[in-house]
Amino acid sequence: MTVRRTALVTGASRGIGRAIAERLAEEGFDLTLSARADGPLKDTADQLRVHGGRVETASADMADPEQVEALADAHLQLHGGIDVLVLAAGMGTGGELAAYPLHKLDTMLAVNLRSNFQLTQRLLPALRTAGAAPSGLGAKIIAIASITGVVSEPGLAAYGATKAALISLCESITTAEGARGVNATALSPGYVDTDMAAWVHDRVDPATMIQVSDIAELAVALCRLSRYAAVPNIVVTRPGETLWRA
Ligand SMILES: NC(=O)c1ccc[n+]([C@@H]2O[C@H](COP(=O)([O-])OP(=O)(O)OC[C@H]3O[C@@H](n4cnc5c(N)ncnc54)[C@H](OP(=O)(O)O)[C@@H]3O)[C@@H](O)[C@H]2O)c1
Repeated sequence: MTVRRTALVTGASRGIGRAIAERLAEEGFDLTLSARADGPLKDTADQLRVHGGRVETASADMADPEQVEALADAHLQLHGGIDVLVLAAGMGTGGELAAYPLHKLDTMLAVNLRSNFQLTQRLLPALRTAGAAPSGLGAKIIAIASITGVVSEPGLAAYGATKAALISLCESITTAEGARGVNATALSPGYVDTDMAAWVHDRVDPATMIQVSDIAELAVALCRLSRYAAVPNIVVTRPGETLWRA
């Protein structure tokens, strides 16, 4: 009998998180989908159930540590374990370094970094169990960072700093937990055609942006690797002169 793997996907109601959740559903994963707004989350879950797996929802605001803790516990209660943790919930606001409001930096750090650290910590015992499973696939953490965490982008100092920290966190997770079969990967794209990238439509044609399916494909490939292959960070960029630009 094949043991079904389970995944918790944050930011799962639209964009990159939704695309990854859909590909994982196609691959036979049981899922918990999370985001703040309950309606779109439930609609997404209804759509993903056609693939035959168990798809549950648990809404949570990643800015609120109590809700983050409750989300981790809800996933374990629903599924009894976790094989893959997809950290796709995120936010970004631009602004000049000199005048960037610190309260906005605090919120962005909470959503883009602290929540992911906290979810990892809370789920670590269950991830270690999956890491040692006989399948040899181990447990995976896949965090959606950004190319702005690798090379700085004008006007995105705060956002880029949160994503650089997330890339570092992924490395640290693999360094600390890889021997137990728990590996983390940051996926660091340039502009992906989602709602989040709509603010640059006046200068970047959405038709030329990275597709959510590109990121989802990489996530699925990572889930197929053995526990002995660690992939710290994958930069996905747009071809041409934008090679090292968002
Ligand atoms: N699009 C890009 O160009 C791009 C490039 C590089 C990296 N990224 C990163 O990719 C990730 C996904 O972005 P996307 O482009 O798919 O954005 P998106 O289409 O706007 O989707 C964002 C998802 O995250 C959820 N979310 C947002 N804030 C949240 C919060 N405080 N708590 C819980 N859930 C929250 C949203 O649902 P609710 O609003 O209902 O909460 C939604 O499901 C983000 O981490 C982003 O930084 C995006």
